[in-house]
Amino acid sequence: MRILVTGGAGYIGSHTVVELLNEGHEAVVVDNLYNASEVSLSRVEEITGKKVTFYKADIRDRQAMDEIFDKESIECVIHFAGLKAVGESVAKPLEYYENNIGGTLTLAESMRDHGVKNIIFSSSATVYGDPAFVPITEQCPKGTPTNPYGWTKHMIEQMLTDLHTADPEWNVILLRYFNPIGAHKSGKIGEDPKGIPNNLLPYVAQVAIGKLPCLGVFGDDYDTPDGTCIRDYIHVVDLAKGHVAALKKVLENPGVKVYNLGTGNGQSVFDVVKAFGKACGHEIPYEVKPRRAGDVPVVYSDASLAKEELGWTAEYGIDEMCADSWRWQSQNPNGYEG
Ligand code: NAD
Ligand code: UD1
Repeated sequence: MRILVTGGAGYIGSHTVVELLNEGHEAVVVDNLYNASEVSLSRVEEITGKKVTFYKADIRDRQAMDEIFDKESIECVIHFAGLKAVGESVAKPLEYYENNIGGTLTLAESMRDHGVKNIIFSSSATVYGDPAFVPITEQCPKGTPTNPYGWTKHMIEQMLTDLHTADPEWNVILLRYFNPIGAHKSGKIGEDPKGIPNNLLPYVAQVAIGKLPCLGVFGDDYDTPDGTCIRDYIHVVDLAKGHVAALKKVLENPGVKVYNLGTGNGQSVFDVVKAFGKACGHEIPYEVKPRRAGDVPVVYSDASLAKEELGWTAEYGIDEMCADSWRWQSQNPNGYEG
């Protein structure tokens, strides 16, 4: 299939393009490079030996999107493009609503007018809020997001669902990611956050390489076995393969489908610190800090629906996630900037 990948130069997007190309699909990437470098796409070409068609464009630009759909025969869109920093979204709500929701509206209008009615959307476990139960199944009710970023995911899910109600020709697959980490085995592509990372793994990786002095562990007094929060970390390559599996599903005209993409296993912050220390060959210095506002103690998926209906399960464990993340970090200490 010929797939339009919005945000395809970014972290999850670039890994997904690799898996699409490996499976014989063709990828057309649109990215405004706000949070990415075009170098990621040349690395994707090195890894796969295949070409990626790239448009530096903004999904909010209707004319640019129309031109892309006019020119390329797109069968399905995988929609990653968006802003994703939770804290920043609290400070800049309008920018988040405008980019994430406005961008999706323009994209969907252009798709509709070009008869492209298949979309796979990057949602997040954040839509479950403080989950009603764990492991979280897709039946778990959506919670109340605690920040504008989470609201954009919540609202876009609804918007795309309404689109299918209005026109059942639309196929909409909502993928709720748990915590993507790791990098491609080649060490050529990985997560390249700008500034000081907010998320655990990129922070740990920068402590490991000596760019940051010490990890702050946000709370060790939670009601969990070691007192730190538990998350369902998933290897980004497994996550990428989940998108390829979802593409096969789209061909069955499934209507609206929701899938958790997680491993089904929970790991604590200390588990991650230990695994990363093993991967990089030395202990990660850390200091216990107060709890971070908005953190939920325990979040992990029930991943059985994706297994049953997509034939997909995550293969990699935490040790491989950390080893691959370390390979990327140590081979590219300054990310794509060289
Ligand atoms: P990323 O920032 O690396 O990728 C997003 C890409 O979209 C970037 O390359 C950016 O330049 C591009 N972009 C942003 N706004 C755009 C616009 N208006 N037009 C064109 N391009 C635009 O982030 P990621 O981690 O790869 O996340 C991809 C998607 O998955 C996002 O929608 C994110 O919210 C979602 N998600 C990520 C995580 C995570 O932990 N990384 C978890 C759950 C969901
Ligand atoms: C965060 C977002 C979530 C988003 C996800 C993916 C919040 C509250 N949630 O999830 O909406 O979908 O990122 O981008 O921001 N930790 C530390 N020290 C650090 C960083 C993190 O101890 O320096 C801990 C956190 O307290 C948490 C765990 O590590 O317990 C994971 O944190 P993080 O990587 O930020 O992911 P989430 O909070 O799960």
